[in-house]
Amino acid sequence: MATLCGIELEHPLMNAAGTCKSLDEVGTLARSAVAAVVVGSITEQARAGNGGNVYHTGDFFSLNALGLPNPGLEYYRERLPDMLAVTHSAGKPLIVSIAGFNAAEYARTAHAVALAGADLIELNLACPNVWDGGRQKRIACFDNDQTRAVCGQVAHALATVGDTIPANRRPPVFGIKISPFSDPAGLAELAGLITVLSREPSGPRFVCAVNTFPNALALTDANEPVIDVELAGLSGAALRPVALGQIRQLRRLLPETVELIGAGGVTDGRGIVDFLHAGAAAVQAATAYWNRQGDAGVFGDILADYADQL
Ligand SMILES: Cc1cc2nc3c(=O)[nH]c(=O)nc-3n(C[C@H](O)[C@H](O)[C@H](O)COP(=O)(O)O)c2cc1C
Repeated sequence: MATLCGIELEHPLMNAAGTCKSLDEVGTLARSAVAAVVVGSITEQARAGNGGNVYHTGDFFSLNALGLPNPGLEYYRERLPDMLAVTHSAGKPLIVSIAGFNAAEYARTAHAVALAGADLIELNLACPNVWDGGRQKRIACFDNDQTRAVCGQVAHALATVGDTIPANRRPPVFGIKISPFSDPAGLAELAGLITVLSREPSGPRFVCAVNTFPNALALTDANEPVIDVELAGLSGAALRPVALGQIRQLRRLLPETVELIGAGGVTDGRGIVDFLHAGAAAVQAATAYWNRQGDAGVFGDILADYADQL
């Protein structure tokens, strides 16, 4: 058993954001071995994402530059009730990952998702692959003013949901997902901000670390970038020590009331064990699933290996 923000989980493993966007995919994951289903990241407007080749698997890493493709909030307003029904009937919570381009957009999306009944909300403050007119968007979690504004407006939006949902339902709590920080002082400053925000009644309750390492590059034998937009987010086994280091630092920096989800290179049971030892309450995996071309049996395989480690 594991618990995350007061929600009981059968075990600590779930899919990571970027692996499940449609009702069909929610069904596939609800029937798989994951303890919770993570859908998203979703944005207010539908997004096509980047074109061309956007995913590459190397020996010890993957690169992706998907750029948040998703059908947009209207689709999710319609489909979230069914997504919740499918997940809940499998005895699992549904976590919705949301992304946005300003604090108001995050707040509107969080409000809609909370009204629909999501169990937890993960704010993706860490997507490296969003380009606008040839310029890369700032990764929100590296700017504490942006993080403060997004968390503040989302907290306010979730507090108002309480007035409209049935009395027997509580609005979901939220947490933030971050990019890997190579500057320990920068990570400490963010942790200080989260600590203050978490003292508010509707403040962040968990941190998910980490999203992909931004702007990595791999070349083909012909010296061409393997990803068409060139620079891309690095994930998979090579990211695991980086992610573990972030979790270990965050566990020391944050109060126990702020829980941690580890993500980065969970491909086997050892990965789960390592993240739990570093201080995570739960773990997520994306690349292991992508590399099996959407075969959700990968989660059962990781769990079987985890059981062997206990
Ligand atoms: C193809 C792909 C798409 C992703 N899309 C998202 C996303 O939409 N939102 C998000 O928060 N993270 C996204 N991620 C990051 C993963 O959720 C995860 O944080 C990261 O890949 C590290 O875990 P892994 O090594 O198990 O893949 C994506 C990762 C991959 C590989």
